[in-house]
Amino acid sequence: MENFTFYSPTLFAFGDREERRVGELTRRFGGTKALLVTGGGSVKRNGAYDAVTASLKEAGIPFAELSGVQANPRSGKVYEGIALCRAEGADFVLALGGGSVIDTAKAIAMGAGYDGDFWDFFTGKASISSVLPVGVVLTIAAAGSEGSDSCVITLEEGNLKWGCPKSDLIRPRFSVLNPRYTCSLPPYQTASGATDMIAHICERYFTNTADVEVTDRLCEALMKTIVSAAPKALENPGDYAARAELMWAGMLAHNNSCGVGRVQDWASHQIEHELSAFYDCAHGAGLAVVMPAWMEYVLPHNVARFAQFAVRVWDCDMDFAHPELTAKEGIARFRAFLKSMGMPATLSEIGAKAEDIPAMTAHRAEKPNGFPFGNFVKINPKDMTAIFHLAE
Ligand code: NZQ
Ligand code: ZN
Repeated sequence: MENFTFYSPTLFAFGDREERRVGELTRRFGGTKALLVTGGGSVKRNGAYDAVTASLKEAGIPFAELSGVQANPRSGKVYEGIALCRAEGADFVLALGGGSVIDTAKAIAMGAGYDGDFWDFFTGKASISSVLPVGVVLTIAAAGSEGSDSCVITLEEGNLKWGCPKSDLIRPRFSVLNPRYTCSLPPYQTASGATDMIAHICERYFTNTADVEVTDRLCEALMKTIVSAAPKALENPGDYAARAELMWAGMLAHNNSCGVGRVQDWASHQIEHELSAFYDCAHGAGLAVVMPAWMEYVLPHNVARFAQFAVRVWDCDMDFAHPELTAKEGIARFRAFLKSMGMPATLSEIGAKAEDIPAMTAHRAEKPNGFPFGNFVKINPKDMTAIFHLAE
């Protein structure tokens, strides 16, 4: 195990009706006027908006509003939110929604106190040093931004979907997780969320670091829980118990408690970000296409680790004479699971075209340190191209 620092200062309020505490929590973490950030309207339909605004009013916290954040959030809403924060004198950013809303809130919080362009943090021109406090009321178990130190935004000019450098300063001060609000999720979003969570764990699980048993076991437990709970939530969207398992698993999958002490990979996420930049697909759906293809491509690098994944997560029998067969069976079961949830398996199923593969690979190269990426196996342009072709 490698040395590490783990600092995760977020307060989590988990369970039914916990959103009633939002006003009190906003005040506790220094907010006297909030900017409330929301998406395309789901929170108005499922009652979350009414409950949260009632709590703010009860606590005497005035708020301005920024609505209409779209999935795969764009820079335009960030600029709008920064201007609104300044005009309204908001000293707290409250995200009510999923990863897209939370990431927009985080980017606004970074940019509000900075004289330059918020994108400077993404290019590395400026480093994140002072941010407004961010609070979260989560409505989808997926991206894990409610506990993470990262934020992903698409710069409209150039269509660049990039993550900012990781910083503990952008971890939310509090996150309210009421599984009840995730019951209104359409099946596709539930499945995309479950896929993203498994991907967050796999990005950590597939490591070259030796002797990381405790985090291996945590990763496996989380994956098994998601594999058990997601079909229940899909079968019965109002299954509170299954929604609760998914919601907490999604947080644990990405606040890095299962990633410490090991070198992590993140190649599949980098590849997927080009897919969602080009085709505006759901991030989890893009991962459902990319991740199994990446697994097949890198399998020869460490057959034993893929065999462990197969046996411990997918209940495969170990073939000691032919461990590569066990490893392949694990990937096949992973693929079958994704399919059973209604996730796409090929580029064409998310509307992607093989002729765009060179453009997506070239687009990646525009990013600072664009290639190689990934740590389990270093991915160069020829590897990225080959992985896309495996996903055709
Ligand atoms: O906009 P509304 O109307 O709210 O609808 C949303 C949206 O269409 C809907 N939704 C959310 N909660 C709902 C609901 N519909 C009904 N009932 C509810 N309770 O779901 C759709 C997707 O929402 P979004 O916020 O985009 O989902 P997700 O949480 O998957 O976030 C995806 C974004 O997060 C980024 C992704 O790249 C993508 O841009 N990521 C952020 C990370 C981070 N900051 O740590 C890590 C991840 O790897 C990921 O890259
Ligand atoms: Zn993700």
